[in-house]
Amino acid sequence: MTNVPWPLLPGRTPASVASAEGAYFNMKDGRRVLDAAGGAVVASIGHGRKEVADAIHAAVMNATYLIPPWLTPEREALVDELTGHWLPDYLTRIHLCSGGSESNESALKIAIQYHASRGEPDRNIILARDLSYHGTTISTAAVSGHPGRKRGLETFLQDFPRIATPYPLRCPLGPYHPDTADYYVQSLIDTIERVGANNIAALIAEPLNGSSGGAITPPENYWNRVQKILKDNGILLVIDEVMTGFGRCGEKFGIDLYDIRPDILAAGKGLAAGYAPIGGVYTTDEVARSIADAGLEVMFHTYAALPQSCAAAATVLGIVRRESLVHRSKTLGAALKERLQSRFGQHPNVAEIRGEGMFIGIEVVRDRETLERFATEDTMTSKMIAAGMKAGAFFYPGGTGEVRDILCIGAPFTIGEPEMDIIETALAAALAVPAGTKT
Ligand SMILES: Cc1ncc(COP(=O)(O)O)c(C=O)c1O
Repeated sequence: MTNVPWPLLPGRTPASVASAEGAYFNMKDGRRVLDAAGGAVVASIGHGRKEVADAIHAAVMNATYLIPPWLTPEREALVDELTGHWLPDYLTRIHLCSGGSESNESALKIAIQYHASRGEPDRNIILARDLSYHGTTISTAAVSGHPGRKRGLETFLQDFPRIATPYPLRCPLGPYHPDTADYYVQSLIDTIERVGANNIAALIAEPLNGSSGGAITPPENYWNRVQKILKDNGILLVIDEVMTGFGRCGEKFGIDLYDIRPDILAAGKGLAAGYAPIGGVYTTDEVARSIADAGLEVMFHTYAALPQSCAAAATVLGIVRRESLVHRSKTLGAALKERLQSRFGQHPNVAEIRGEGMFIGIEVVRDRETLERFATEDTMTSKMIAAGMKAGAFFYPGGTGEVRDILCIGAPFTIGEPEMDIIETALAAALAVPAGTKT
């Protein structure tokens, strides 16, 4: 098939995949390419597990569609799986959606409705971070610190007060400065003072930065201080774990890495690992009860909690537990990061190799001493991804606006030594692009 009107915008040639199995794509041209990104950091158990396909089939045959608030065996099984094995014990209330954007949108609505239910309807401002991604609906795009995905919409999207996202490598005080945490915590303090605590409903943030910055991890002593400030000011904490949740970062959730206790948590991607569209919002009894007692509604999306999506998610999470894949994400991710650091850590174009578990970011620069980036016109990210694909692995692009040229690895947790070899080879090929660029 040639000249298909796909994707929407002409002039972009998509890769064409005939099929996929395990951690590999079989490309239409016959090549085999490792899915080192898990698609968009989604496919945590790999492609083509029959057990999940069978569960989806059985769910469709059992009861294809029911309104989301009703219970079915598939919904009950997922709720049991989530509350019994995944969620922290204080996040007891579950609202399912069809993906990450819907989950974050619902999370923001719940935060605002919570304050309204307590007689504070004017506490309706959401604090956001300057480097972040929370989704592609109008509200979640607006709240995102992702200039690249907001181009052409700037005049339409609401502006939100922003605090600086911790970026230890590029902290304005200097790379890895001992006062890095102070600097970024001060940004929160100043913003609350400027906006007025009584006007702020919540802060939305990823525990560690997703693809907008490519797995940037916060400094020690950041989250504990942020949480205390929010609590002291009656501001809810909404944690977006759409990318980092369900084992991606070597723990059940990113909150476990930093001892974060959110009021509301949103998570998607790894929940059904790409087998079905599903995301979820999880909150406390107190938040849910307050909204209910005030007689407010939390409306569902028509396709929320679709039985076949719930069956896929419950089966995927069961596999992740049975095969100890969260632990594997931790140990394998650490081994892979160490391997990449030892081979490429001193590469003249590598500024940093970072991340947690099976979520790793490689930041590429023109000059590792000054951290000067390549120009946008150099389109370094696309060139490196193309070179990686040619050498056998797909990496996910990271960065937005000024922050650019970051390769993300988000491979299935099931990969082993042969796949780590492929990642190393493909990364060497990708890094040959900046190395071969004349300065
Ligand atoms: C942290 C984060 N939040 C939200 C989203 C949006 O999720 P979705 O694309 O499923 O709507 C993404 C997607 O990449 C994400 O990484």
